[in-house]
Amino acid sequence: MNDFYGLRKKKIIVTGATSGIGRTLVKQLDSEHADLLLIGRSREKLEALTGELSRKPTCCVIDLTDLGQLQNIANFLPDKIDGLVHAAGVNLWSLLGV
Ligand SMILES: NC(=O)c1ccc[n+]([C@@H]2O[C@H](COP(=O)([O-])OP(=O)(O)OC[C@H]3O[C@@H](n4cnc5c(N)ncnc54)[C@H](OP(=O)(O)O)[C@@H]3O)[C@@H](O)[C@H]2O)c1
Repeated sequence: MNDFYGLRKKKIIVTGATSGIGRTLVKQLDSEHADLLLIGRSREKLEALTGELSRKPTCCVIDLTDLGQLQNIANFLPDKIDGLVHAAGVNLWSLLGV
């Protein structure tokens, strides 16, 4: 089958991977067999998410607001990048418990 437009083996980075929008997209991308680089602050949450996926992603534990940590991402980057989901952020409604 022609997979030209599919996500199989596409190398996609997801920030905010452990919750909300990012997490939902991680599940969808995994179901379409993308190669994922997941970025989050919590190793525990990333490991728990990894256990729910069909393919083992690469995980990078980093706080994106810490400029000193940012260059660590370079150690995890694939040789090429096909896509980026930048979903890291603060959901104010969640903070308010809504
Ligand atoms: N959900 C909506 O309907 C909606 C609508 C419009 C806009 N947005 C915006 O879209 C963004 C994501 O929303 P959401 O509902 O998916 O939020 P969420 O459920 O709170 O998830 C936020 C994600 O971002 C990660 N994150 C937060 N700060 C980070 C940091 N400094 N470094 C690395 N990762 C960090 C969190 O990781 P950990 O907590 O595990 O570290 C978590 O995985 C927010 O900015 C929100 O305001 C959301």
